[in-house]
Amino acid sequence: MTSNVQTRPGVEEVRRQAIGMEAMLAAAFLAGMGITLIGLPDEVEGAARTSSQVLIGLHVLIALGLAVASLRILGPARGLAGARPLTVAGAVTIWLTIVAGIVTMATDNSWLSYLMAVGFIAAVLVYGRLLLALNRTP
Ligand code: HEM
Repeated sequence: MTSNVQTRPGVEEVRRQAIGMEAMLAAAFLAGMGITLIGLPDEVEGAARTSSQVLIGLHVLIALGLAVASLRILGPARGLAGARPLTVAGAVTIWLTIVAGIVTMATDNSWLSYLMAVGFIAAVLVYGRLLLALNRTP
């Protein structure tokens, strides 16, 4: 049996990148929850401060990976019915979440931290929906 994946290389590329987005989102979530659990560097001391700094560095690096990948997926998604709007929505969600993260760092505002969690859930849902849509792409 010939699958859609074999006949549409673009579908397979977008699927691969969407799976990568989900994996990076999971890693960002775990690092973010770690920071929340330990506390921000200026709230703790000693080993806890170092751990918090390392986790923030990791969290920001993953966020950079998400930012780049959210733009890279736009190209191969062009021309795939239903996929393009989801990749645009995903990129907007990721970039807004990053803004929430930067402002959280600058202001230590808990509501902006909450917005990061909202952005995380929204992005997981958007890229999950994209993966489901790819299964239906002829
Ligand atoms: C798409 C990108 C991002 C995602 C999905 C994300 C997600 C999360 C999640 C789920 C948490 C834990 C729950 C919460 O406090 O909301 C968190 C915490 C945190 N994130 Fe992000 N984040 C992103 C980008 C960033 C960026 C760019 C920064 C900083 C420049 C940042 C800084 C932080 C900090 C400092 C915390 C701990 C907040 C606290 O405990 O008060 N995040 N993030």
